[in-house]
Order: sequence, then structure tokens, then C-alpha cells
Amino acid sequence: MSGLFVTFEGPEGSGKSTHANELSDRLRGMGFEVMRAREPGGTPTGEAIREILQHDAAGEPVTRETELLLFAASRAQLVQNVIKPALSRGAIVICDRFADSTTAYQGYGRNFDVERVLNLNEWATDGLAPDATLLMDLDVGVGFERIHKRNQELGQIEDRFEREERAFHERVREGYLALAQRWPERFHIIQSDAPVENVSAAIWNVIDPLLPDAACERRPDEG
Ligand code: TMP
Repeated sequence: MSGLFVTFEGPEGSGKSTHANELSDRLRGMGFEVMRAREPGGTPTGEAIREILQHDAAGEPVTRETELLLFAASRAQLVQNVIKPALSRGAIVICDRFADSTTAYQGYGRNFDVERVLNLNEWATDGLAPDATLLMDLDVGVGFERIHKRNQELGQIEDRFEREERAFHERVREGYLALAQRWPERFHIIQSDAPVENVSAAIWNVIDPLLPDAACERRPDEG
């Protein structure tokens, strides 16, 4: 596969979407084909699954087993229909959350056996792993404040995960940090409570050296 696969991970309120958008715009401006996706979602099937998962849209609470399998199902659809074709074309795929979210939230957060979750992820992704994962790390309390403020400003209600107790989110954060230790070459920890321009610069320092050679001549800053 010739493209580049980058994922943003981290807790709620860590600025993943904002920075994923900013990075995508920058790369597009340099002439790269960029495919933006988000999880759960990113395909019509995935977006339908997202509604069920975030707001119990089917009218009943989903069990934790169903939750785990729905995240995996959404991902399988996204990998086969969107991510793999884009990477085969040589595109840069930037995804807001991927399999590490399932390990962190369902494995560590919901206390499923982590190795079994990793096996399920392998199955759902057909073995596809990101080239780089930006872990937007943030104190859980700070993340809660940001989410609360954003929901108030936008008049949104909290989703199922935002309503989870603090201990759940602490386990998710610890889980992410454990994954970063397990795969130190793929994971890059970004302190996401730093000033926004420092966060952007830290992300760029990770991505710039990974950019495919084929597009280098189109990079304006290299003349
Ligand atoms: P977000 O797109 O606003 O980040 O919301 C997605 C929510 O779903 C977030 O609370 C994290 C959660 N989630 C999981 O629990 N497991 C997963 O595999 C994924 C992709 C997300």
C-alpha cells in the first residue's frame, strides 16, 4: 500500500478533529490527496452505527458486547470501502479515531480482556495498522470542562460516552498511554493542553518526515 495512514486518538475534548482538519488542509494545500474519515462513521453504514452507539438510537441501551462489535463493524466497512482504496491510490488518509479507540474505551474503559479486543481489531481492520498515531493526551478533568463548554455553546446533549463516570475516562487515558508504550514507534504523544500553535507544530514535526517522496517536489517550502 503506497499512501500514508495517520490516526488521531485521545480522550473527548482533546482537539482531535480541529487538528485533523488543520493538518488535512495543510497537506491539501501542498498538493497531496487527503482522505478525511472519522470513527465510528465515515461510510453510510458507519454513520448509522454511530447514531446507535452515541445516542442509543435504536431505542434500547446497547450491551457492552454489542457496543464492541458495532465499533468493529463500522471499522470493517470503513477499511474495506474507504481506507484501503484510498491508500492504494497513494492518498494520505487522516482518521479521527481507529482501532486504538476500541482497545482504550472497550478494552481498558469497559474492562474487556485487552488481548481479545486486539484480536477483534485485527479481524475488523484486516490487519491494517496506521503508519502514525497522534495521541492527543489531556488531563481528564480539562477534557470534561472543554466538552461541557462546547455542548453548552452548541446546545448539544452529552452522548453516552460523555456521561460515563470519571473513573471510566481515567482508565481510557491510562489505556492509551499503555498502548503508546507498547508501540512506541507508531505512537506519538502530543500534549494537547499546550497553546494551539505548539500543538500544531508538534503534529507537523511527526508528519513531515513521513510524507511520501512522490509528492516532495510539490512541496512549496522546498522551492
Ligand atoms: P467522537 O467521534 O466525538 O470522538 O465520539 C466517538 C465516541 O465513541 C467517543 O466517546 C469514543 C467512543 N469510541 C469507542 O468507545 N470505541 C471506538 O472504537 C471508537 C472509534 C469510539
